[in-house]
Amino acid sequence: MFKVALSGILFFGIFLVVSPASSKWILELGDNFIDVRKDGEGYWLVLFYTPWCGQCSRLEPIWAHVVQALKNTHIRVGRVDCTTFPNVPKAFNVITYPTIKLFKVDDEFTFEGDKNTDEIVNFAIRMSGPSVQHVTRSESLTNIKNMNQLFFMYVGDKDGLLWDTFSDVASKMQAHAFYYSTSVDIAKRHIDIHSLPAVFVHKENSHFFYPVGEGNFIEESENLNASIHEWINHERFETFQKITEGNFNEILRTKKYIVLVVVEENKLFQVPKEMLEFRNIVESLIRKKKEKYHKYFQFGWTSSHELANSIAMEILSLPYLLVLNSTTMHHHVPEDDPTEMTVDAIDMFLEKIYNQTAPTYGGNDLAVSFYRQYFKARTTLADRWRGNPVLTTVLLGLPLGFLSFILYSCCCANILDADDDEEEEHEKRE
Ligand SMILES: *[C@@H]1O[C@H](CO)[C@@H](O)[C@H](O)[C@H]1NC(C)=O
Ligand SMILES: *[C@@H]1O[C@H](CO)[C@@H](O)[C@H](O)[C@H]1NC(C)=O
Ligand SMILES: *[C@@H]1O[C@H](CO)[C@@H](O)[C@H](O)[C@H]1NC(C)=O
Repeated sequence: MFKVALSGILFFGIFLVVSPASSKWILELGDNFIDVRKDGEGYWLVLFYTPWCGQCSRLEPIWAHVVQALKNTHIRVGRVDCTTFPNVPKAFNVITYPTIKLFKVDDEFTFEGDKNTDEIVNFAIRMSGPSVQHVTRSESLTNIKNMNQLFFMYVGDKDGLLWDTFSDVASKMQAHAFYYSTSVDIAKRHIDIHSLPAVFVHKENSHFFYPVGEGNFIEESENLNASIHEWINHERFETFQKITEGNFNEILRTKKYIVLVVVEENKLFQVPKEMLEFRNIVESLIRKKKEKYHKYFQFGWTSSHELANSIAMEILSLPYLLVLNSTTMHHHVPEDDPTEMTVDAIDMFLEKIYNQTAPTYGGNDLAVSFYRQYFKARTTLADRWRGNPVLTTVLLGLPLGFLSFILYSCCCANILDADDDEEEEHEKRE
């Protein structure tokens, strides 16, 4: 108990020290934000938080960076303490914390990605501009390419079915990527274009075209809409994407095989040397054989052991290599120790997965889902126990106590009643 009390004091101590220092930068909003918002003026990026949520306090340093990064833009950044101002989250239908929203003239958008500085800043910048930005100078296109950011681009005259559909899908999926359009003249100075109009995605010095004309260009707008939608989901991740619990569900929308390197990462986002080597080997494969793999495989890496363990349903020794079928949730693991594998061995492993001769594990049927839930609960509990045994006992003990009380009163009610009867009889006899 003493230990708990002490860590409590330490926790609040740190909280009090950190908070005034960082709040110099951070704009705290209150009830008046509801009125400011009603005037519909400008863009606002707002964090809804409560002082007691653990994820909110982890977000605090990230939010300070976000404030810094957006300082010289037309986006105003603020946060609301929803315990002190409960009317504000109510007015904007916020029920979970932390929630990040961007407010635009008469629209609002909730941030759904991984909560790191880059993702949040990119989201705010994207949502505060038009969904498709027109590029009018060749140099601008060079700059955009140099930013090393994934983007989608439409090339050609801005009318017709492809343009209408592209701009429509872009407005729906604005939160997920950058979209541009440009003229044929400008585009041709940068890439070879064989048919027009065209749509392509640019990632890390490569581009991949939306396959117009390969039996994919259907003259019905509904089909084209679905097809472009699907293609953007397919392509909107980096070649070697960092995968977290925050973006995992989005990654599954690629409908590709997810090649996942599982490594360790410390609090400063550093990966130990021997794990880095293994990660580099896998990364070099996708870089070398992009043409071969990019269509059916999404490569990535994660340091979330919970995520990897819950896919594999075992505690993995790191580093590790997992391949997940994103439609069936089956997974594949190499037969050999992953760290002993060469690039060629990994290449062959992936080929076997692709031609469906590799052994398959897991999946999404009832028994496996059940086991996965059980496994998750067990490991979460074990982690909690390691983190804080006293709290775990209390948290677990209370419901168990109630449960046994309920069971006791259900099963033993008759016995109690019987005792009462007997007593009554005794009394009568006396
Ligand atoms: C386009 O496709 C997406 C996903 O398939 C769907 O959610 C959306 O409603 C469609 N839009 C139109 C205008 O058909
Ligand atoms: C996943 O498994 C199904 C069924 O075995 C297969 O048809 C599909 O091609 C696999 N791959 C992906 C990426 O979904
Ligand atoms: C599947 O791929 C592996 C590895 O390249 C190869 O050895 C095997 O013959 C292939 N199987 C089929 C049925 O194509």
